[in-house]
Amino acid sequence: MSKRIKIGLIGCGMISGSHINGYLAHPQHAEIVAVCDTVAANAKRRAAEVLSTAAARAKSAIADAEKAGTAEAREPLKADAARLAAYSDNGVKIFNDYNEMLKACDLDAVSLATPPFVHEPATVAAANAGKHVFCEKPMARTATEARNMRDACNKAGVKLAYQSGGTCLDATSYAIRDYVTSGKLGDVYYGRLTSYRVRGRPNVDMFGFGRWFLNSVYSGGGTIYDTGVYLINRSIYLLGSPQPATISGIAYRGMLPEYTGEEINDVEEHASVFVRFTNGMSFTYENGWSSNMSGQPQGIFIFGSKGAFSNNKLFVEEGTWDTDEQGNRRRYRENLVETPLELPDASFPDKFRDFLNACNSDAQPVSNGDVGLKVTEIMSGSLLSAKLGREISVEELYELEALRTEPTPGWPIP
Ligand SMILES: NC(=O)c1ccc[n+]([C@@H]2O[C@H](COP(=O)([O-])OP(=O)(O)OC[C@H]3O[C@@H](n4cnc5c(N)ncnc54)[C@H](O)[C@@H]3O)[C@@H](O)[C@H]2O)c1
Repeated sequence: MSKRIKIGLIGCGMISGSHINGYLAHPQHAEIVAVCDTVAANAKRRAAEVLSTAAARAKSAIADAEKAGTAEAREPLKADAARLAAYSDNGVKIFNDYNEMLKACDLDAVSLATPPFVHEPATVAAANAGKHVFCEKPMARTATEARNMRDACNKAGVKLAYQSGGTCLDATSYAIRDYVTSGKLGDVYYGRLTSYRVRGRPNVDMFGFGRWFLNSVYSGGGTIYDTGVYLINRSIYLLGSPQPATISGIAYRGMLPEYTGEEINDVEEHASVFVRFTNGMSFTYENGWSSNMSGQPQGIFIFGSKGAFSNNKLFVEEGTWDTDEQGNRRRYRENLVETPLELPDASFPDKFRDFLNACNSDAQPVSNGDVGLKVTEIMSGSLLSAKLGREISVEELYELEALRTEPTPGWPIP
């Protein structure tokens, strides 16, 4: 019988609503017992939302149970309804300091929905208190912070998951990874990721985002940390989690219309980065919040000696040789054939259930501390390499990060 994981939510801003819905979708496996935000009104609002959402879900579980044709289908729905209805009696505790919450509450895990500058200190505090951690993306601002988070969780024997796991938990991603790692695609020698928005800069072209998004001290970086992080995470998963060895990046800010706000805006609007992995693969990542580029193919492209993936489509080369009268090979006639993927006959949990499963077993979440560290090495390395104007190794990345001048942990582009 798996344990019902008691969750404390840290950070009650925009994205925290998806955490509340995520855990309330699994009443058998999780219970939100506390919320915390340095802004008291935000914590209060989300605590009320936990109670109202639980009540609404309890009502619909009862309605579903009444419609269920068999006792087997009905009983779990009734049990879920009872668990959700219990929120109104138990309530949700409210805190403004996560250290207080960790001390005062009997939690199993925390769910972090704060800006990136809080991810490392809150994760280390939670791990030291023996709590599992689910962390929003990006995992951290720097590789050093990500490594501290991973190491603290490993040392404490708790699980660390982060939000980009949602990019990997489906049959197609599983199948692509299998093609790549089993050799069915031949030698996988190169990949490319392209992801552009035309005008999608938070707080420049689109409003209503936290003020921290454009300030690297709080966010770590711009487009590559905000949107690039998802696809970089998926690419690492699809490639079988290779370790970055060297990183060469460029970054740009200066798209029109220009930013006219009063807040600090020192983050990149475009980043391109070339990564060599220790296993010989290499990958180019191109990511833009704001580009004059539309209608071009976007996504993840993987090049293998026997075939390729263009996003989720598999192409296999099935050409033939022309031969002369003596049977000598004269010319190869290529024939790239789109080939259906062999999908696994399995169901995949959502990212919250994946985390809860890991809390209750020896399994690691699909996007865990090791994967998040590689993703952060690529993101932080790209901006540092851009700043230095040359390729850097991952070892050097940590040395350079150690030189940073506090309290400016980010790497604003010149
Ligand atoms: N907004 C989005 O569309 C979106 C989508 C996916 C993921 N994310 C990620 O989720 C995280 C949060 O983003 P958001 O948009 O919800 O930001 P937000 O600014 O709306 O909310 C962040 C909340 O964290 C609180 N906070 C700050 N420091 C804290 C601390 N020390 N302890 C407790 N609470 C603290 C703030 O008061 C605020 O309520 C970021 O890492 C972001 O990249 C955001």
